[in-house]
Amino acid sequence: MSEPTERVRTGDVPMIDLRAWATGTPDQRGAIATAVDDACRSTGFFQVVGHGVPQQLIDDALQVADEFFGLPFSAKQQTAPVADHVNRGFLAVGSEALSYSVGVDAPADVREAFVLGPDGPPPAGHEADPYHVFAPNLWPAQPTGLRPALAAYFAAVAELATTLLDIYAVALQLAPGYFRAFNDHPTQTLRINYYECLVDGAELAPGQQRLGAHTDYGITTVLHADRVPGLERLDDAGRWVPVLPGPGAFVINLGDLLAQWTNDRWRSTIHRVVPSPAAGRRRSLAFFLDGDYDAVVSCLPSCHDTGNPPHYSDVTAGAHLAEKLRGARTHTPAAAVDTVGDRIGALRDTERRADDR
Ligand code: OGA
Ligand code: NI
Repeated sequence: MSEPTERVRTGDVPMIDLRAWATGTPDQRGAIATAVDDACRSTGFFQVVGHGVPQQLIDDALQVADEFFGLPFSAKQQTAPVADHVNRGFLAVGSEALSYSVGVDAPADVREAFVLGPDGPPPAGHEADPYHVFAPNLWPAQPTGLRPALAAYFAAVAELATTLLDIYAVALQLAPGYFRAFNDHPTQTLRINYYECLVDGAELAPGQQRLGAHTDYGITTVLHADRVPGLERLDDAGRWVPVLPGPGAFVINLGDLLAQWTNDRWRSTIHRVVPSPAAGRRRSLAFFLDGDYDAVVSCLPSCHDTGNPPHYSDVTAGAHLAEKLRGARTHTPAAAVDTVGDRIGALRDTERRADDR
């Protein structure tokens, strides 16, 4: 009877084994797609094992992250982005307040981060790059092992994310390569979130978080996180539910663009990372696959009819992502709040209840 305990510990995020996806029978692939559809409809979160990303790549990425974040502030700050619209390099504590990306005022987030994209020039024909999604990476001089370790990890999780796109297409009964067509020259971002142990008595403003409540902006997120409490998702009743990855598992969640494509059949769930001083340091590697900047996201024909018209206007992925980033970086509410619709109301109710206590 160990199963209920495990379910509580992992915060009820279903575990899906992807091993059979590449080589399995049609029935086995169908079972994976059905499990993904169930999870995406109910919570927008699941976990995967059998994902094919070698543990060594994860360990190496965490090792160089420890070395980088252990450097003096002035060394890290050398790779700070030159402008708010450049999603690269070192983000000091307080640089972002993610709740602004969903239009909610909040204190600045208490976490450091290092952000990178694909390591190379923009793909041919996309040199103009209006949204800076192919901005050069900002590599620090030290540690020298950072670049190869993160580039290798990036490539492996990017491949996993592409596999997820194929599973999503099957789960939504679309042509197998449906989402690949929107990810020909995609926005791909790896953000290392580094949450240091908060020293006892550290002063936090009311409502200040390690990562403020937000939805992920794009298509899908592939998250490796230390098995340390902190990540929480908002459920339909307005309660925060812990999400703790199982051993060796990636946590997968969906971003706004999939909610828009599917007319909210699939969920872009609000989540946050809360301080947990007793638990100490927490690290996460968040990879975001967010579509082509010029992809137009339009409600799927199978997800609307006369009784259920599209909830969202068509949006260009690049414009949507840029507005979200602008909100979080400049600590001013993003205009794109309609993309999370009613869930903002649930979040505000939760916070009001907490304030009344
Ligand atoms: C994110 C995020 C969760 C975590 O980076 O968008 O939600 O556990 N991270 O760090
Ligand atoms: Ni997130």
